[in-house]
Amino acid sequence: MKTIDDLGVAGRRVFVRADLNVPLDSGTITDDGRIRAAVPTIGRLAEAGARVIVASHLGRPKGAPDPRFSLAPVAGRLGELLGREVAFATDTVGESAKSTVGALADGQVAVLENLRFNAGETSKDDAERGAFADSLAALADVYVGDGFGAVHRRHASVYDLPARLPHAAGGLIATEVGVLRKLTDDVERPYAVVLGGAKVSDKLGVIDHLLERADRILVGGGMAYTFLKAQGHEIGASLLQEDQIPAVQGYLKRAEERGVEFVLPVDVVAAAGFPDLSTKAPSEPVTVAADAIPSGLMGLDIGPRSQELYAAKLADAATVFWNGPMGVFEHPDYAEGTRAVAQALIDSPAFTVVGGGDSAAAVRILGFDEEAFGHISTGGGASLEYLEGKTLPGLAALED
Ligand code: 3PG
Repeated sequence: MKTIDDLGVAGRRVFVRADLNVPLDSGTITDDGRIRAAVPTIGRLAEAGARVIVASHLGRPKGAPDPRFSLAPVAGRLGELLGREVAFATDTVGESAKSTVGALADGQVAVLENLRFNAGETSKDDAERGAFADSLAALADVYVGDGFGAVHRRHASVYDLPARLPHAAGGLIATEVGVLRKLTDDVERPYAVVLGGAKVSDKLGVIDHLLERADRILVGGGMAYTFLKAQGHEIGASLLQEDQIPAVQGYLKRAEERGVEFVLPVDVVAAAGFPDLSTKAPSEPVTVAADAIPSGLMGLDIGPRSQELYAAKLADAATVFWNGPMGVFEHPDYAEGTRAVAQALIDSPAFTVVGGGDSAAAVRILGFDEEAFGHISTGGGASLEYLEGKTLPGLAALED
């Protein structure tokens, strides 16, 4: 992959595809980690005298403008973090984008509106995506791919646009790929992986791949209940993906055959209903055994004995990858499991990687020092697909 140094950016219009897909609560950014991660490359280009055009998606709007997903607050925050004025185009390839980019002087920065406000960005139709990529290409002279969190998407700005412009990888992508390589080539053992999050179906590919590579797989979050059910336990009203039970049983069997340790919660924090995340009003949590969750109760976090167990399983690991929260960490009654795993990573002498939107946001929202972890990835799905060994379109597009 070429780097920015190979491009020659002074005086040129440089299109930077970043991943500024940050969580918003009524227009307020609740975790600016991805914006901070984008700053070094953007700042460096501006310093080098480029006319920097920053583009990203935010959320999943349906191919048309939707004010709830505007990048305007993100552009504001980027300006604060860069310590520079950042112009904002209210469209992607229309009059506002053309005039905003046309007005850029060397060293100035503009952000385009959400790329997904245009249906061509995510279209499955090559021609439609290509037409949008053509319009984006007309705005710029060169392309820098730096949106690691989106490299698993075959989208116009990620995959088709670099084919139309001289291109290079930005510093963030170089760093992310360098770290994830340590988890795929010559990994130091014991290699422990912690997987959480709501749906087991999102993690099937990575579990399949890790069964050949990891020494221990610790499971928490909503997905754990499908595992517990697959083992024949009562899970009350907890989240269940019934159609995944056969796959999960297959994984448990393979893990046993291969000597991979599968660690499931031994106790869970449960309640009669899902907590109110907007008011964060106190709920009525109870700790129950994971193999006998009473009917009517739903598991919402791993319990204290599970937290101890998981910490012990991470204490002597040499490499740890963690993706996905252990519970509904957004509510204080169900944050302890995620907090305990974050602390266990910090306490472990292992090389630790936090992969993913939600787990990365969780460690910041829970107040942990980012520097205490080996690496916090900006990619959720992207880092999982990288670990699965898949070809990621946005990286492949930067190769030649
Ligand atoms: C992410 O949040 O993982 C990336 O920004 C990609 O977003 P997407 O899953 O909506 O494509």
